[in-house]
Amino acid sequence: MTKPLNIGLIGYGFMGRTHSNAYRQAPQFFECDVKPVLKACCARNEESIKAFAENWGYESYETDWRKLIARDDIDAVDICTPNNLHKEIAIAAAEAGKMILCEKPLAMDVAEGEEMCAAVEKAGVPNTVWYNYRRVPAVTLAKKLIDEGRLGRVFHYRANFLQDWTISEDLPQGGAALWRLDAKAAGSGVTGDLLAHCIDTALWLNGGIADVNAMTETFIKERVHQETGEKQAVTIDDACTFMCHFSNGSLGQFESTRYARGHKALYTWEINGENASIRWDLHDLHRLEYFDHNDESQVRGWRSVHVTDGDQPYMDHWWVPGLQIGYEHTFIHQVADFLQSISDAKPCSPTFRDALETQKVCDAVLKSADEKVWIGI
Ligand SMILES: NC(=O)c1ccc[n+]([C@@H]2O[C@H](COP(=O)([O-])OP(=O)(O)OC[C@H]3O[C@@H](n4cnc5c(N)ncnc54)[C@H](O)[C@@H]3O)[C@@H](O)[C@H]2O)c1
Repeated sequence: MTKPLNIGLIGYGFMGRTHSNAYRQAPQFFECDVKPVLKACCARNEESIKAFAENWGYESYETDWRKLIARDDIDAVDICTPNNLHKEIAIAAAEAGKMILCEKPLAMDVAEGEEMCAAVEKAGVPNTVWYNYRRVPAVTLAKKLIDEGRLGRVFHYRANFLQDWTISEDLPQGGAALWRLDAKAAGSGVTGDLLAHCIDTALWLNGGIADVNAMTETFIKERVHQETGEKQAVTIDDACTFMCHFSNGSLGQFESTRYARGHKALYTWEINGENASIRWDLHDLHRLEYFDHNDESQVRGWRSVHVTDGDQPYMDHWWVPGLQIGYEHTFIHQVADFLQSISDAKPCSPTFRDALETQKVCDAVLKSADEKVWIGI
């Protein structure tokens, strides 16, 4: 017998769409005792949210997230709003006893994140944060290979997340679709938006970060604010580079920018160990590059593993070996894992508490750039 899980989704933008798709697909491809029901979605504009509800098959809609949380027929609240709303919604949802799936970054800063962790832990409600790149099959496979000890001692971890969409001086900041450029809505620029993904993956694959030394730059100093029409100072970081020491003794190097002309979403990471190296590239997300020094020397070299076989993570739920899946599947996998975690009464990582570790690194990075010193985590 399957048990329904009534979803209340807040925010119908980019992530509202990926999550809605995931709730619909997960039970089709994964055997789940718990089945999501698209009960209600919410945003402020009635016409738009009504159209969204009809398009995705939500049974109802709300225009005030407080009303959605107050409803007895909602079991889980999914937060897909800009970052400055995560804390208020999550705490209200926890106090109402709802399960919570929250978009990343967890919060605007560590102080907010601590309050959110305290709220979900006090309420004892299941919670997870959508650091979805953990659930790219190639990345999950990397985690398995690392946990098997195949890399040996790790020396280096390097990651990049490069985009180019804010180079024009004419691009406004703030408001719909451009809230990422407004620190009041986003908390920070590329650090919370892009590096947070790199940091979450790094902490998962390579363990804790001990200290960081960062630099940030804001290339365009003033932009018109979309909501006021006024030219205002830009206070987000347009680019951020940092180096760090991991607790396992390896050295880390991270770079993120929205000013790398030609790059749209180039998220890459590489790990170099004493026995093997491993690397991954979001533009080719179904491949894992792997170099094993133990291979016979005549044929030793980087191999490109096409992660589509049934014995590779998640792939037995999809098509046949050789046929790849894509970006949207990372969200489907997270929903499937969340549903399974409810059946098993176990946490679904990354939990709020796990995501707080990423928030701590983000805060330290921004502080280091500001004070031009090394900051311990
Ligand atoms: N996991 C990922 O890879 C990933 C990718 C993109 C965004 N995100 C995160 O997802 C969140 C949303 O980002 P997005 O790209 O979907 O943004 P978006 O601008 O596309 O959508 C934001 C939505 O929030 C709604 N909203 C704003 N204020 C609201 C309010 N007071 N009440 C109800 N709804 C409100 C807007 O109407 C809009 O539908 C952010 O926290 C972002 O960092 C994560």
